[in-house]
Amino acid sequence: MTQLAQPPIDRARHARMLRSREWSMILLQLSPTGRIPAEGSPRRQVLNFVTEALSAEVLFPPVLEDLEILTPEVRAELLAIATEVVAPYEHESRRIGDPPDGLKERFRSLGIMDYARAAIPVPIVDDFEVAFLYYGPDEFLRVHVDNSYAFEFNLLGCLRRVRPETGRKSATYFLLDKGDICAYDMSEGQGVWFHSGMTPHGRTPLASGEEVVLVTFGFRKERFDSDSR
Ligand SMILES: [Fe+2]
Repeated sequence: MTQLAQPPIDRARHARMLRSREWSMILLQLSPTGRIPAEGSPRRQVLNFVTEALSAEVLFPPVLEDLEILTPEVRAELLAIATEVVAPYEHESRRIGDPPDGLKERFRSLGIMDYARAAIPVPIVDDFEVAFLYYGPDEFLRVHVDNSYAFEFNLLGCLRRVRPETGRKSATYFLLDKGDICAYDMSEGQGVWFHSGMTPHGRTPLASGEEVVLVTFGFRKERFDSDSR
C-alpha cells in the first residue's frame, strides 16, 4: 500500500497545545459555576498559583476598547447571522454558533487581520477562527486557558448586551499575576483583546433577564519556538 506523504509535525506547537490543555484541566475544576473562588480558599490559592506560573509568558494584559469594525450596521448584520446559526445545545455551559460560509471573508474585507497585527506583538498566521457565543440566564464559563493549538490570542467582541435593571451583573474576567482580577462587562460594540492561551479567564453566571451575544476571533502565532514568545 502506498503511504501518503505526511506533513512534518510541528513539535513545538504540539507541546504547547498539550501544556495549555493540561493547565485547563486543572483550571476547569476550580470554578464549577463560573464564579471566581473566594479569596484565601484552597481553590483560589491554586488558581493564583497557576496564573502566576503562566504570567511570565503573557505578552500583553487584557485590553478593552471600542471596536472600529463593529459599527452599528455591522453589529446588526452579524446579529442576524448569529441568530440563525445558534446551536440548540450548550457547549461549556453556554451556547455556540458556527459561522456560515463567507463570514471569514467578510471579516477580512473589514480589515480584521490588520487589526489583529496591530494588537498582537508577535507575527501571526494569516488566518483566524471565528464563532458566536451566546449567554442567557444561569449560563456561564468556567475558568480555563484557550487551547494554543487552535489559537493563542483572542478578540471577544460584544454584539448584544441586555443588563438586568437591578442586582448583580455578569462579566468576563481575567486572572492577572499577584492575585489581581480584571473584569469587563462589555457594551455593544466594545471588545477585549487578550492573550487567551496564557491568561486564565471565565464568565460569571448571568442573572434572570440578562443576555450576551459575543463574536470571538482566534489568532495563532506564526512560530512556536522559544524565540517567538
Ligand atoms: Fe476561552
